[in-house]
Amino acid sequence: MPELTKRIEPFEAGTTHTPVSAAASADGLKKRTTGKTAVSGPFAGKVAIVTGSESGIGKATARALCVAGAKVVLNGRSKERLIQTEEELRREGLEVVSCLADVTCFEDCERLITNAIATYGQLDILITNASISMRAYFTDMQPEVFRQVLDSNVYGTVYPLKAALPYLIETKGVVTFISSISALNGMPSGSAYCAGKAAVANLAHTLRLELADTGIQIGVVHIGFTQNDPEKRVLDATGQPVPIAHRPPRWQKSQAEVARIILRHIRRRRQRTVISALGRLIVLVHTHLPRLGDWIVLTTIRRLRHFYE
Ligand SMILES: NC(=O)c1ccc[n+]([C@@H]2O[C@H](COP(=O)([O-])OP(=O)(O)OC[C@H]3O[C@@H](n4cnc5c(N)ncnc54)[C@H](OP(=O)(O)O)[C@@H]3O)[C@@H](O)[C@H]2O)c1
Repeated sequence: MPELTKRIEPFEAGTTHTPVSAAASADGLKKRTTGKTAVSGPFAGKVAIVTGSESGIGKATARALCVAGAKVVLNGRSKERLIQTEEELRREGLEVVSCLADVTCFEDCERLITNAIATYGQLDILITNASISMRAYFTDMQPEVFRQVLDSNVYGTVYPLKAALPYLIETKGVVTFISSISALNGMPSGSAYCAGKAAVANLAHTLRLELADTGIQIGVVHIGFTQNDPEKRVLDATGQPVPIAHRPPRWQKSQAEVARIILRHIRRRRQRTVISALGRLIVLVHTHLPRLGDWIVLTTIRRLRHFYE
């Protein structure tokens, strides 16, 4: 049985507000929070956390937020990649710190939020982007792999928000759950992922109703096919990391485009954004012509197996 849970030791007590790459320096925090982020811009004065921002769309979103004036706390669970990303963005003159935390662990999430508050004194934006994806049929999947994918998408959203909520209520902040167009319609070989992304969309609706009087905004972005980092891996049926299934490049948006759309969603305090024409078509077909939707999926799964497997 392969090792399914990759846990990296988070910060030890006593270093909770030290950015990951400032580790041993007593005055490291001060030195490292003097980036050259624009003091103007639509997000000037705002502090954001983007989970899973050491790579991919999360990293592009963190970069776009900084360029638009925000101070950003990066997060990931690979220390080496997190440091690399923090340094890369700092070389671009952007104001970032980073915090190693596994978002499926509530204690890590509490530490992530404590770090952000200790560093910047407030929290205005939380983007729950961290996620593990998969390519495996339900019949073949080990139950533990299903749990791991579901946990990363559901508890990886619930725990950071639970820890951040009091601070977000203080600032009447914005929460953005990163979901997928695959939450809008079932997708063969993506059972746990689709279930997790759909759960998150429903959670946003419920929380919007529960928290209506607080001034906090909770929204969901359903992302469509997007260019992936070459090193991106998803889990197969036994939990082994494998490359993502083939996606026609012409169907993919760039990470920077997706990041721009996420920022617009936040600025407008929108409840739901569905990215791409394909995404909007899926909503339309799923709502009004569900049998046609199923026919399309079943036909493509026979003709375009590599698209799913
Ligand atoms: N790319 C697409 O086509 C697409 C389409 C629809 C929706 N989305 C959504 O967009 C978001 C970003 O996707 P992406 O393509 O940029 O994926 P990605 O490159 O794999 O980035 C996800 C990041 O989250 C991190 N992460 C995973 N589990 C974590 C955990 N428990 N704690 C902390 N960090 C964790 C990953 O780190 P590890 O490498 O350590 O796992 C990785 O750095 C995801 O929510 C995804 O579902 C993407």
